[in-house]
Amino acid sequence: MKIRCFATAVALSAVCVALASSPDAGTRPLIQNAHARDALSLDGQWKIIVDPYENGYYDYRLNPTDEGYAQDRDYTDRTRLQEYEFETDRSLNVPGDWNTQMPELYYYEGTVWYRKRFNYTPEASCRQFLHFDGANYNTIVWLNGRRLGNHRGGFTGFTFEVTDLLNDGENSVVVKVDNKREPEGVPTVNSDWWNYGGITRSVNLLETPATFISDYTLHLADTPNGGLSGCITLDGDDKASREFTVTIPELKATVSGVTDADGHAEFSLKARPELWSPESPRLYDVTFAIDGDDVADRIGFRTIATDGTRLLLNGKEIFCRGISIHEEAPFTNGRAWNRDQAETLLDWAADLGCNFVRLAHYPHNEHMVRAAEERGMLVWSEIPVYWTIHWDDADTYANAERQLSDMIARDRNRCAVVVWSIANETPVSDARNRFLGSLADKARALDGTRLIGAAMEKREVSPGVMTVDDPLSDIIDLVSFNEYVGWYDGTNEKCDRVSWTFDVKKPVFISEFGGGARYGCHGDTTTLFTEENQEDLYRRHTAMLDRIPGLAGCTPWILKDFRSPRRQLRGIQDDFNRKGLVSEQGQKKKAYYVLRDWYARKRAAHTQR
Ligand code: GCU
Repeated sequence: MKIRCFATAVALSAVCVALASSPDAGTRPLIQNAHARDALSLDGQWKIIVDPYENGYYDYRLNPTDEGYAQDRDYTDRTRLQEYEFETDRSLNVPGDWNTQMPELYYYEGTVWYRKRFNYTPEASCRQFLHFDGANYNTIVWLNGRRLGNHRGGFTGFTFEVTDLLNDGENSVVVKVDNKREPEGVPTVNSDWWNYGGITRSVNLLETPATFISDYTLHLADTPNGGLSGCITLDGDDKASREFTVTIPELKATVSGVTDADGHAEFSLKARPELWSPESPRLYDVTFAIDGDDVADRIGFRTIATDGTRLLLNGKEIFCRGISIHEEAPFTNGRAWNRDQAETLLDWAADLGCNFVRLAHYPHNEHMVRAAEERGMLVWSEIPVYWTIHWDDADTYANAERQLSDMIARDRNRCAVVVWSIANETPVSDARNRFLGSLADKARALDGTRLIGAAMEKREVSPGVMTVDDPLSDIIDLVSFNEYVGWYDGTNEKCDRVSWTFDVKKPVFISEFGGGARYGCHGDTTTLFTEENQEDLYRRHTAMLDRIPGLAGCTPWILKDFRSPRRQLRGIQDDFNRKGLVSEQGQKKKAYYVLRDWYARKRAAHTQR
């Protein structure tokens, strides 16, 4: 594959007239491991127009070939009326939320238009794709005035083919991002995290051969003689009956085959890889190749299963010493998007003694998942079906299922991911059970190699006796639930006197517990929001956890204080949910050390088994 270098420069003049009335131009293929592709990065400064009244879209609808902001016209002809111009407007960094870049956009919920101009010379034998790792929430993309399509959802990637739409020379991409919360959205209008808007993850112009490897999977074979199995899918006119190879040099393993009429093939290969685990996070270089294209990836192999209340990794019982994490950058506290931020958050989790992270409440950027995998941290990945979703709305379901499919498509080769979570704290109803039952079926149809989870809620069936009797526990593979004994439910002392009982014989997994404290705020253990109160809560809570039958793991809420519009207590919360064990400035609270000590004991106890 010829390695190409791209030249990026800001173009100086306007772009071509659009045929905006035509249907969306950008087809939307899946490109597995997109970051392995040759790419022109479009990250950096983008021009923006803040448009709370949808001016730029209204004009577009009225007069699509001329007025809409998507045409990116420079206002050079001052004899005609024009009421926008990107070139002389402000800028934002991409990736990045707008809320923490511009003080006037701190609370903003609405549309911001983004514009990037770049020089490009298409190579005739290649195809080009505009790939967004993520943008929140409702995004429409134009290239050179031509509408490519739109994407709903704030945390999954999307791709438009632009092969025949690029100019040889100056190009303009215009993106409309609207983060207004929608009642029928996923999530809906109410959530306990900041509604960070914008192009919050990287943007790349990818280049592939005319026929390329668009998707692949590789995992342990579910057969008695072991080995590996997987599939490969090609995209392009010359995809049928193509010979392919899959090679793992360190295992001296390779397999060849031929794709079917649809460019697809399944394969198996003999190999006995060292299994991936937190203690030994072994990854292998794997190359998928056809004549004219090859893609390299780093892939690990492991099994995850349940046996009654036991959680088995590679056939051995494991206790998940976890922590919940929001996708919020340490120190700057905007949306996290890069590898360094992922490393810092995971450094804190590793220092706690964690072997597991719950990436709440939505799919995090790929850096976080790959960094966790390289460190030997198991991952719980989740879609934002959060609280009171519109269970009877078919569009809401389609949105949730699309986000689930995109989450699985991106990360199904990441062995660290062991749980696909389909919901968080959703009130029980027939409509909700149908909605989540369908999502669980879809998840299993897409990927039968992982556990399906959700954060259910506990119930106090009699004074001091707790259980989980959510019908969802018959559908998912864990008895996974959030509980706040000692914070929302009683005070710290309640932890000492509650007991737990479960009818369902599945691994018990507590996906949230905790309480708030402002770093540096001190007092006695009964005064809320003091470090002493949180420390005492963690002491009593972990002692309570030690009494829970079948407990296979937990992910306390939460690693780091995070922004939420619901946390308004001035001087204590200041728009931050203070349940973090680490402050938003990276300061470790007293409770941090209680959890770390408890995990050290859990690790020692499990090692002796
Ligand atoms: C819930 C919810 C979290 C929220 C937490 C809290 O359990 O799942 O998203 O932040 O409670 O109230 O702090």
